[in-house]
Amino acid sequence: MKKDFKIAASILNADFSRLAEEIKKVESLGVDMIHIDIMDGHFVPNISIGPMVVKAINSVTSLPLDVHLMIENPDDYLEEFAIAGSDIITVQLETCTHLYRTIQRIKELKVKPSVALNPASLPEELEYILENIDMILIMTVEPGFGGQPFIPSMLKKIKKTKEIIKNKGLNIDIEVDGGIKRVNIEKVRDAGANIFVLGTEIFKNNDYAAVITDVKEKLFK
Ligand code: DX5
Ligand code: ZN
Repeated sequence: MKKDFKIAASILNADFSRLAEEIKKVESLGVDMIHIDIMDGHFVPNISIGPMVVKAINSVTSLPLDVHLMIENPDDYLEEFAIAGSDIITVQLETCTHLYRTIQRIKELKVKPSVALNPASLPEELEYILENIDMILIMTVEPGFGGQPFIPSMLKKIKKTKEIIKNKGLNIDIEVDGGIKRVNIEKVRDAGANIFVLGTEIFKNNDYAAVITDVKEKLFK
């Protein structure tokens, strides 16, 4: 099996009063990316952070910033998030009326474009724009909060997504986000995901090192 699996630490449930410290800690423990959840209180019921904080995060880590926009009208904010230091910008399919245009704009800003699918959204909807994106983010919970349980039927969707990508001969990452834990990560990997967002599994555990070591052992064994 190709061993290009990556761990993205989602800071949503980190201790925000010590955010720099939290990020440096997971960086030193060998995670591959920092996943940053942007929430607007409209597309999702929760409100999180904006570009100013993304910029501050960028100044304390050399890891790629994987910025997940759970906001309405994402086009209005792409430039700000690009300038703040995003390496990947993910937009939610459900928020984009003109998805192709949005993707082109992200590319113009020299950021990798990615599209997220809510649990009820179909990977088939991406068929005609697939060549233009670097990553598909499969939401394995409804977006909005950390700490929710993984939705089991998403395994089938990951497989379907992988199949669609493979049939087109493309090399697009499949990221999974929501409820990813040590107990289910192998199943999710076997379904076809290669980038794993871990939030509460890391940040709500007393021993980050043990979690990250276990996860790597499971992924790469
Ligand atoms: C949910 C967010 C996730 C969340 C993951 O809307 O997109 O990134 O922080 O947290 P866990 O791993 O706890 O489900
Ligand atoms: Zn996320």
